[in-house]
Amino acid sequence: MSAKTILILGANSDMAKAIAKEFKAVGFELMLAVRQPKNESELAFDAADFASHEAFVKNLKAIPDVVVTAFGVLIEGDESFNSPKESLESTLVNYTGVVSILGHLSKTMAERGSGTIIGISSVAGERGRGSNYVYGSAKAGVTAYLDGLRNYLADKGVHVMTVKPGYVDTKMKAHKPTPGIVTASPEQVAKAILRGYKNNTDTVYVLWMWRWIMLIIRTIPEFIFKKMSL
Ligand SMILES: NC(=O)c1ccc[n+]([C@@H]2O[C@H](COP(=O)([O-])OP(=O)(O)OC[C@H]3O[C@@H](n4cnc5c(N)ncnc54)[C@H](OP(=O)(O)O)[C@@H]3O)[C@@H](O)[C@H]2O)c1
Repeated sequence: MSAKTILILGANSDMAKAIAKEFKAVGFELMLAVRQPKNESELAFDAADFASHEAFVKNLKAIPDVVVTAFGVLIEGDESFNSPKESLESTLVNYTGVVSILGHLSKTMAERGSGTIIGISSVAGERGRGSNYVYGSAKAGVTAYLDGLRNYLADKGVHVMTVKPGYVDTKMKAHKPTPGIVTASPEQVAKAILRGYKNNTDTVYVLWMWRWIMLIIRTIPEFIFKKMSL
């Protein structure tokens, strides 16, 4: 029997590298898609180049068994407010890019009648916060999109898993240290994703406390929340 394949989109991300290692260790064949391929085994993929996505999927040598969206751009702090252009560009990658590429991939997987789509969203999408409201709104869109896609594909043999990693120690977060106790390593993310994949989990929180942190954050009344600096 041939090995199962995993397509990782945004394969240069620190989480993606750990995910690739974890799935390779259990026998998966890797299909790594990056913006600037460094060798022939890497596939060229730009999340914001929507016009290329249909051909990207058509040219895959095989429809993957597992797809992971691991690309993303962080925009936070005053940049969300001061840079409308960067805000729009980040949204085109973080949200529209996911909808575009998964639109093509989910169709081919549903036609085959099997597969798993793993979308890396964020706890940032659970409630809009002043510190990252543009990024958070895109992730809220991604989470809702993945929820709906899971529902749509439930009777078509394709499972959709949403990953909400919480803080992760990657280059995306390198500019601003995060509290160690609520920060996962890329390896922890990868292990949680493999476990979730094996168990057909719908939503994965990597560190258990994030589920409860976000429950508290979601229940704070708006008249208090709007005065908080989060
Ligand atoms: N780190 C965290 O705390 C955290 C928390 C929650 C969720 N997330 C999400 O987890 C995922 C992985 O994040 P990470 O922390 O591992 O990120 P990372 O190490 O900073 O990597 C981000 C990756 O996204 C790729 N990328 C950016 N724009 C792209 C585009 N237009 N097309 C294709 N690829 C593009 C980059 O490619 P290049 O190498 O070409 O620049 C880079 O490899 C992202 O969706 C992120 O939003 C991260």
